[in-house]
Amino acid sequence: MAIEDCFILTKDDRNRIRRNFAEALIAKMEGEASSLKCLPSFLPRPSGTEGGEYLALDFGGSNVRAMTVRLSGGQADILRMKKMSLRRVGACDYTSADVEAKDLFGVIADLILAVAPETDTIALGHTFSFPAEQLSVKEARLIKWTKEFGVQGAVGEEVNRMLTEAFTRRGESRVRPVAIINDTVGTLLASAYRMPNTTIGSICGTGHNTAAVFPDGMIYNLESGNFDGLPVTEYDLEVDRMSLAPNEQRLEKMSAGHYLGKIVTLAAADKLACFRAGGELTGEDLGMILNDGGESRRTADLVEHRFGQRIVQSDCAFLRRLTRAVVARSAQMVACTYLGIIDVIDPTHTEHHAIAVDGSLFGKMPMYAKEVERVLGEGLVGEKAKADLIWAGDGSGIGAAVAAALALARPADQQDYHTFAESMVALYGSKGQA
Ligand code: BGC
Repeated sequence: MAIEDCFILTKDDRNRIRRNFAEALIAKMEGEASSLKCLPSFLPRPSGTEGGEYLALDFGGSNVRAMTVRLSGGQADILRMKKMSLRRVGACDYTSADVEAKDLFGVIADLILAVAPETDTIALGHTFSFPAEQLSVKEARLIKWTKEFGVQGAVGEEVNRMLTEAFTRRGESRVRPVAIINDTVGTLLASAYRMPNTTIGSICGTGHNTAAVFPDGMIYNLESGNFDGLPVTEYDLEVDRMSLAPNEQRLEKMSAGHYLGKIVTLAAADKLACFRAGGELTGEDLGMILNDGGESRRTADLVEHRFGQRIVQSDCAFLRRLTRAVVARSAQMVACTYLGIIDVIDPTHTEHHAIAVDGSLFGKMPMYAKEVERVLGEGLVGEKAKADLIWAGDGSGIGAAVAAALALARPADQQDYHTFAESMVALYGSKGQA
């Protein structure tokens, strides 16, 4: 078998992934073991009438953005924005295990203060794109770092408390964190603010994950990057072994931008000796390879730059076929998870779903969005249900502002404690233990 062929998913494989995903969701609904987390956001979809000016923090990975956002009748405008890369703050990499949480949240607080109004206090919606156990709409405890973050002293801690302490150390009381959400929840909220039929929000970028609205009306962060019901290759197993947290985030390590270049590098090394001497392709490199037609000169230049050796045209063609297979597999797996969600939240297949997606892979990788769309369409053939994919660029930031508006509008006495299983059992009656 050609190396690239081991990444091909057959129709049976795709149906199995869809079914396994739906089963993992149902297991979680019934309080049983599952690779999905289904974390409550304590937020419903917005009505579209929310308004006002809010601070929004988009802490999505190594790139962090702070902005002020004005909401008005379904329209969201970003008024001011500042961003930074945590990998390069002066000479320091603020994602690494050499850094303490206190210092990480210090630089983030400074970024927020740089866009905050000078005098007034302002409510902040915080998009925090890591698995976090939501304690209330404004409190979430970090379960684990993903995306190869190693910062010390943060796991198990309440995230907005660490941020608030950083403001206090700076003698600042202008900023009031009122909501904390996952980026998938933010993407869903941002899209639903304009398009009420949005039922799924997803990120296909450096990391991968999806959130969905369940029949109790609440949005849940599935942490679907941890889904493990997938056919794996030896290269996936190797990427997992080399990662900071082996055995975790299996779907994410097979589908997200942070890992696709690693998979292609490892698989290519079985044929091309220069790939074995160290060096690695990035997600952006894969986009370049897919866009390079004709004589493949840019691919040959790239390989020379990354691995110190030029490869011939037929090897460039192999690398392109391999890249195409790895990227297509990612898009197909992701589409199958969306289908699995629709099977659970709309079992009679009668609704028209808008699926909002943000992230560089979906937005920039050649053929990615089209492939997700193709597999999604194929999966709903003959059904009454429809699904439209909506590009939700900036979704995480705008969604944070929408979350802040929703949080401020909530009745003060609202009960903030129930798990996914408890809520589902209340709706459907007890099957498993709640
Ligand atoms: C995190 C998710 C996040 C996703 C996309 C994953 O690594 O676990 O919480 O939504 O990345 O940013």
